[in-house]
Amino acid sequence: MKLLILGATGPTGRHVVDLALRAGDSVTAFVRNPAALGDLADRVTLFTGDATSPRDVSAAAVGQEAVVSALGVGTSVRAGDLFTRASTAVIGAAGEAGVSRLVWLSSFGVGHTFDWSSGPQKLIYRTLLRSVYADKAIADERIRSSALDWTVVYPTRLTHGPAKGTFSADDRLPMKGNPTISRADVAAFMHRATRSGEWIHRSPVITD
Ligand SMILES: NC(=O)c1ccc[n+]([C@@H]2O[C@H](COP(=O)([O-])OP(=O)(O)OC[C@H]3O[C@@H](n4cnc5c(N)ncnc54)[C@H](OP(=O)(O)O)[C@@H]3O)[C@@H](O)[C@H]2O)c1
Repeated sequence: MKLLILGATGPTGRHVVDLALRAGDSVTAFVRNPAALGDLADRVTLFTGDATSPRDVSAAAVGQEAVVSALGVGTSVRAGDLFTRASTAVIGAAGEAGVSRLVWLSSFGVGHTFDWSSGPQKLIYRTLLRSVYADKAIADERIRSSALDWTVVYPTRLTHGPAKGTFSADDRLPMKGNPTISRADVAAFMHRATRSGEWIHRSPVITD
């Protein structure tokens, strides 16, 4: 499958790139800084650009079969307008290029999922993550309103642990405390979702 991966240099994005390469996919890694991809750089097609630029994303989307986004703001508590601008660029680019499939990484607690969160989660989402979550909420709704075959993924707190493959995924899951899931498991879920129709037009919550 021809995959365009945004956020390919991030810790979750790198797992997606790695899994896609292992599965025999043809990967275009959309990056700001090719050097940040390290050893994976030789095994992908590199596209250097800014995910908030409609022109850059449109150029990268030509000839792809699916777009996967693991974009994020790292450890920053401010989103700026990364997610709103990138979602607009991706929706436009995918539409123009005739790429219908989009798997987009959001965060549990954003938008409609906030009401399902536990007390400890709500406290963090309302304070530390407020700016990031507000921008993500707008982006996620834009994606759901688009004509694409979207999946918007809502993982709980991410860890750098290994893939366990034992996580839960559903349209809604009960929450207690502040549960986690590894980036490796999130990447596996996202990569599988690109190849299956199961999660099209759904917003799965995933957690250990
Ligand atoms: N941390 C958690 O507990 C948690 C929980 C649930 C969901 N999430 C979400 O999961 C996602 C991935 O998080 P992560 O920690 O694995 O990754 P991350 O460290 O946030 O990585 C972000 C990636 O996005 C890229 N990026 C940012 N702005 C860009 C731009 N304008 N143009 C092109 N690329 C850009 C970065 O590129 P550079 O290498 O150039 O910076 C990097 O590859 C995020 O959306 C995060 O909010 C996180």
